[in-house]
Amino acid sequence: MAPLTRSRAIGNVPNELMEKYYRLRADAGLILTEGTSPSANGLGYARIPGLFNDAQVKGWRRVTEGVHQAGGKIFTQLMHTGRVSHPANMPAGSRVLAPSAIAAPGEMWTDSNALQPHPVPVAMSEADIAQAIAEYANAAKRAIEAGFDGVELHAANGYLIDQFLNTASNQRTDSWGGSIENRIRFAVEVAKASAAAIGAEHIGMRISPYGVFNGMAPDAEMDAMYEKLIAELNTIGLVYIHIVDHSSMGAPEVSPALKAKIRAAFKGKYILSGGYDLARANADLDAKRGDLVAFGRPFISNPDLVQKMLKGQALTAPDMDTFYTPGEKGYTDY
Ligand SMILES: Cc1cc2nc3c(=O)[nH]c(=O)nc-3n(C[C@H](O)[C@H](O)[C@H](O)COP(=O)(O)O)c2cc1C
Repeated sequence: MAPLTRSRAIGNVPNELMEKYYRLRADAGLILTEGTSPSANGLGYARIPGLFNDAQVKGWRRVTEGVHQAGGKIFTQLMHTGRVSHPANMPAGSRVLAPSAIAAPGEMWTDSNALQPHPVPVAMSEADIAQAIAEYANAAKRAIEAGFDGVELHAANGYLIDQFLNTASNQRTDSWGGSIENRIRFAVEVAKASAAAIGAEHIGMRISPYGVFNGMAPDAEMDAMYEKLIAELNTIGLVYIHIVDHSSMGAPEVSPALKAKIRAAFKGKYILSGGYDLARANADLDAKRGDLVAFGRPFISNPDLVQKMLKGQALTAPDMDTFYTPGEKGYTDY
């Protein structure tokens, strides 16, 4: 099950409704949770959960117990939203941070004031960067405390790690920007610190080469950058790479050549995702293009997706209007 932000975590704490939602999908094999912030500064969206205080650990523990009792495995996706944020969504005292003071294009939802433009973020100081890296490692520890089988570092879709990777959002002239080595440094340091905290065998990373979500833009060095990043992740020993291809959602396709190159270079497991149905998933697994396939939208509207696929039954279409609305409608009532 692919990571799916569902915005039901009132007060940024996992609750009983979320416990029910995940338990209903426990036969997915491996669940990757919705993006979960390692820091108050990373709570950019309304009602997303965190994993940095005791109440959040307690809430998540009930979720992981439910999934484990039903025989499933579950990783949490650590998502620091960086500049994809708005102060109206964030707890008092938190800050909208990014590698450079460049606002993300477009607007985002706030519960108090509807749609608002993204603010210009504060360019992170050396101390801010060190703190953010430590927050990921701390959240990884908290994840194990909460009973998760591991964590997925969200380095895709224009959130903080991707903001460092991409030249559209990273125009730093210090050792965290400019060259490929410098732009991948934050991703690598987050992976190293998290691996030191809980072991690399419990850590995967999600990446979205050529993605354009949240103002990301491809550049001429993109293939080379991901090759260098994969080489570093091999050294650290991460357990999987999870690649996003959002061409089914209107984004540019990730070239099959780059996907194959990453697959060949990376020593761990490879998860494919984006627009899969059963036939295409089986075809890609048979052709050894990946080790696992993640399903996103099909799992929203089909808690019994696995059973339906096994029986060859038709799938229910998801209702987009309730993707991010609070409450059980469109969440636990499919
Ligand atoms: C409602 C919704 C929320 C999503 N939230 C996340 C998220 O928190 N983290 C993430 O990496 N991807 C997120 N995605 C992307 C999905 O993980 C997945 O890559 C995408 O839906 C394409 O796969 P699919 O065709 O199987 O749905 C989200 C997608 C949807 C539709």
